[in-house]
Amino acid sequence: MNAGAVVIGNTYTISDASIFDLVGIWRLEQACFPKDAYDLFTLLNLALAPNVMRLKAVIDNRLVGFLAGEAVRYERAGWIITIGVSPRYQGRGIGRLLLSSAEQAMRSRIASMKLTVRRSNTRAIALYEHTGYRWISTYRAYYHDGEDGLIMEKDLTMA
Ligand SMILES: CC(C)(COP(=O)(O)OP(=O)(O)OC[C@H]1O[C@@H](n2cnc3c(N)ncnc32)[C@H](O)[C@@H]1OP(=O)(O)O)[C@@H](O)C(=O)NCCC(=O)NCCS
Repeated sequence: MNAGAVVIGNTYTISDASIFDLVGIWRLEQACFPKDAYDLFTLLNLALAPNVMRLKAVIDNRLVGFLAGEAVRYERAGWIITIGVSPRYQGRGIGRLLLSSAEQAMRSRIASMKLTVRRSNTRAIALYEHTGYRWISTYRAYYHDGEDGLIMEKDLTMA
């Protein structure tokens, strides 16, 4: 799956990630997710899976953000598998732009975007709510430490 266009922000670009970004994405996952980082093997699978969209944010040749998503045909929904921005670069609009780029690239094939987020992840929840996502249900004890996962959805059929 290909995002197509390169989006240029103030000082960063959003473009398709490739297998050559694997180590950078692995480091980013570890920095972003102290409790839930995907291991290298899982990230390798994501890098090779034919139906997965992979977007990266780059500043000065440095990978500072990553999003993986997948369109699930029977649901007519795109699921965000992971999204992370390097802690030093958070709060600059990179997460928001990664999200909107994924929505834009998938919207011809899906009716909504969905994701799961830790109940305690107020920062990510704020981003999702500000960009049109709404809570739809809860996976009880979804995470390995027993925390609930909130499922959020954004309707892409409206404008
Ligand atoms: C969640 C995450 C991807 C957001 O990326 P980001 O680049 O920091 O987000 P943005 O700069 O685009 O900010 C967008 C929104 O996030 C929220 N946000 C950003 N910085 C924030 C801060 N310092 N404090 C509180 N909220 C903040 C705001 O709601 C902001 O909306 P606004 O533009 O209307 O103010 C990033 O914080 C991250 O990587 N977190 C760790 C990994 C993670 O939790 N991923 C999500 C798993 S579901």
